[in-house]
Amino acid sequence: MDIISARDLNKEQIEDILKSAEKMEKKIGTPMESGNVVATLFFEPSTRTKLSFQTAASRLGMKYIDFHTEFSSLKKGESFTDTIKNIDGYVDIIIMRHPKEGAARLAAEVAESPVVNGGDGGNQHPTQALLDLYTIKKTKGKIAGVNFNLVGDLKHARTMHSLLYFLSMFKANVKLISPKGLELDPELIDEVKEKFNAKVEISNELSVEGADVLYACRIQAERFADPYEAKRVQKEFSITAEHLKGAKDDLVIMHPLPKVKEIALEIDHTPYAKYFEQAWNGIPTRMAVLDYVLKH
Ligand code: CP
Repeated sequence: MDIISARDLNKEQIEDILKSAEKMEKKIGTPMESGNVVATLFFEPSTRTKLSFQTAASRLGMKYIDFHTEFSSLKKGESFTDTIKNIDGYVDIIIMRHPKEGAARLAAEVAESPVVNGGDGGNQHPTQALLDLYTIKKTKGKIAGVNFNLVGDLKHARTMHSLLYFLSMFKANVKLISPKGLELDPELIDEVKEKFNAKVEISNELSVEGADVLYACRIQAERFADPYEAKRVQKEFSITAEHLKGAKDDLVIMHPLPKVKEIALEIDHTPYAKYFEQAWNGIPTRMAVLDYVLKH
């Protein structure tokens, strides 16, 4: 199966992947064997998604091949779909990130191997949201009824689009907090309200009040027409220790990373900060994802 959007997974499938991730975590360090090969095709920069998929494949005993656009025959004018068709013949799973929304879906249409979307433009990043759920279950023990403040550039952040869908499916309470003009697409909010009867509040005021989890994301400057506007908003929307006065003692702060200026450095050293653990959870979660897409 392909995993291109959060919409491709139902609750039962997600629960299966999260249970498998728990088992995978216990197996890390135990040698495993596999004849499978994974291709990581990243047309946009990545640290965590690419390296954690490559590590996950290695932990499972799989091999991986990497793809560098600038040294590929795309530079000679080969089409995207011809490129995918050829790589599809070499490997058993394709992991792809692309700046254009819909590119991963197009790859899945031409490839026979499972395709997993590692982020397509400002659209979706479903495996990030899976590792987020895994992190929340590890830290809070549950998702239903947990109060989430999702903070930042909700218009362009693909991680937030996938996460809101899953949080709504799992009956969390969500408050969406963004600078003016960077609100999450109202169509997605209507969709989760209709499908999951989701409770979603909307605000433009940075606050941790009532939150069990503060989930921040960066201002996605690369998706702004005006870079100066991105810088201005970034300065105004930064979480500092001051904002955490009045926070619940067991507040958890998450972030998909990379973080730039939206979380003050001083917060890294507080017990609230869980984003580096969250990034590590990408390994067992993506081991589970690779295993799942091969078997389904
Ligand atoms: N969270 C995330 O997608 O990080 P990278 O851009 O480094 O892959």
